[in-house]
Amino acid sequence: MQAKADGGAAPVICIDGPGGSGKGVLAAALAERLGWRYLDSGVLYRAVAVLALDARLGLDDEAALARLAEGMDAATEGGRLKLNGDDRTEDIRKEPVAESASTVARHPAVRKALLQQQRNARRAPGLVADGRDMGTVVFPDAELKIFLDASAEQRAKRRRKQLRSDGMRVSFGAVLASIRERDGRDSRRAASPLRPAESAVVIDSTAMTIAEVLERALALARRRRLGAGGAAHDINQP
Ligand code: C5P
Repeated sequence: MQAKADGGAAPVICIDGPGGSGKGVLAAALAERLGWRYLDSGVLYRAVAVLALDARLGLDDEAALARLAEGMDAATEGGRLKLNGDDRTEDIRKEPVAESASTVARHPAVRKALLQQQRNARRAPGLVADGRDMGTVVFPDAELKIFLDASAEQRAKRRRKQLRSDGMRVSFGAVLASIRERDGRDSRRAASPLRPAESAVVIDSTAMTIAEVLERALALARRRRLGAGGAAHDINQP
């Protein structure tokens, strides 16, 4: 973890929420506007799932999955994922991988194995991290925590549009069923379940555009004096 000039850790904004809530788009846009780094923590769980499927590992074999997670070399650059040296960008976006990722993510040993990799992304000038437990477990001392939600129907609509633009044709009913199943698994698991952190600002994006959600998040960041001219750089701060 790289320290700021004043000795503290670099600032973090957490964006947690269920699949299809738009947190990935928001987090990436926010990071770009602030000039900060961006961590898509779901990629790590998807990467473990891809490797497990490659190796035909049982998704209940917690110890073997944790070893896989500990030993893997996952690097993202320019939106592409290099996993143990191979480009697996397209593979991790497939729906069966998302399903397997949420199964793999239930295991505490897998979550523990990925914890430090996520914390290592906290470097100056700041980090925007998206996932399910960024605010509750990975960065409990984050400067700003946002929990982005939307109705399951709206999220299924968005997910289907995204899958179609990636060339995958799926029915609305199938996407909605998969979203509901994943929501249930992510919220009911014992290890780091999906829930808003106590201090999180909850935003319901069902009837909001991406631009509106981004404006709201930027306003919250400004209020906390984060970003350019904010806490990380403002020498006039009390
Ligand atoms: O966000 P994304 O859809 O890529 O995440 C895939 C799966 O990884 C989620 O359904 C969830 O089970 C798991 N995940 C998690 N904790 C995170 C990020 C993702 O458990 N911080």
